[in-house]
Amino acid sequence: MATDVKPITDLAARYRDVRAATEQLCAPLEIEDYVVQSMPDTSPTKWHLAHVSWFFETLVLQPHHPDYASSDPRYAFLFNSYYNTLGEQFSRPDRGLITRPTVADVHSYRAHVDAGMDALFERCQSLGVEVPGVIIEIGLHHEQQHQELIVTDIKHLLSQNPLRPEYRKDRGERGDRRESGDVTWTHVHEGVYEIGRDYEEGFVYDNETPRHKAYVHEFELANRLVTNGEYKAFLEDGGYERADFWLSNGWATVNTEGWKAPLYWERRDGEWYQFTLSGFRPVADGEPVCHVSLYEADAYASWAGARLPTEVEWEVVASQQPIEGNFVDSQRFHPAPLAPSTATLSIPQQMFGDVWEWTSSAYTAYPGYQRPQGALGEYNAKFMSGQNVLRGGSCATPQSHIRPTYRNFFYAPDRWQFSGIRLAR
Ligand code: AVJ
Ligand code: FE
Repeated sequence: MATDVKPITDLAARYRDVRAATEQLCAPLEIEDYVVQSMPDTSPTKWHLAHVSWFFETLVLQPHHPDYASSDPRYAFLFNSYYNTLGEQFSRPDRGLITRPTVADVHSYRAHVDAGMDALFERCQSLGVEVPGVIIEIGLHHEQQHQELIVTDIKHLLSQNPLRPEYRKDRGERGDRRESGDVTWTHVHEGVYEIGRDYEEGFVYDNETPRHKAYVHEFELANRLVTNGEYKAFLEDGGYERADFWLSNGWATVNTEGWKAPLYWERRDGEWYQFTLSGFRPVADGEPVCHVSLYEADAYASWAGARLPTEVEWEVVASQQPIEGNFVDSQRFHPAPLAPSTATLSIPQQMFGDVWEWTSSAYTAYPGYQRPQGALGEYNAKFMSGQNVLRGGSCATPQSHIRPTYRNFFYAPDRWQFSGIRLAR
């Protein structure tokens, strides 16, 4: 028989690990924390837990496991996020109004889906047929995306509370500004480079394909992220009061939203404080600035006499770097200052982890891109309008989720992700 059983057990083990990691992220939560939705862009943790299970149920179990039956077919309407191909959806901004199914019901739903997946793995193994590996793999990466969203959405939720609840005790160094040293730059010659990745090279989302050539003008990329200390200098120089640094839409947003600083920053007794997942504390100058919108990133770059990198520039440099950094695996849940020992090295640092780095690139299809058929065409492709690409992952991203070619995308005013700034010129 031509069947190789090892991949099935590998995939089954990965399935269990990813599912367990989701539940570990929820361990610090109280039952009330699972249910409330703090704004239309965020979702209750309970919804995330159910939605990722609905994804396996709908795209893996129903098409590939003949004996699987949903524990409650009505869940499809509640937990389908945005796939029109898969039916109608409950209103996204109202997800926080759903008190039933309860958190316990959602845990049972997860267990039901897990049992179905176990049965599918066993069935494939005993019949010697292939598991639907590609879609399971997508389901696992999908669940990792929602792990990150659980962290960012919980942060936004807890930040509403004047008691400033801590998600987890602080584990990290804070660092001061001097330790970061002066910025040094990586110089890149003009020329034709290749970016993106093909399906044959390992797991990849459709929006990273195909690998293709891109012409790049000579440029320089900063070897570290912009720090809070540097961003404070922008604030103190009237950054939020002077229209000349800002994109027109950015300046309009600053005024309508009343922005005075990054999200989660607050002025108390003449000092800047910030809400973190480890509670409320003074802004540490040496940490990378985070929770800025594309508009703030762009205005900071203008003020600093530089610009944001394009996603091509970012990838040309990042593809030469090891995938190391402060990911969710470190359980710090906050961007970290450079270690004093490496802070002055003139090599690209913090390219992965810490904060997603805004690029000036619009999120659009690569040359030769083919939108997947059916529901998977709704996963990434239908959002290719009006958003910018962010690169490199954050302190809320699982390390095994990220690649140099990975393209995240958000709208220009969005600030609740761990999003920060690296300069180019
Ligand atoms: C790529 C982070 C913008 O949040 O909608 C989750 C990730 N895709 N489920 C999003 C995603 C499908 C996506 N972002
Ligand atoms: Fe999703």
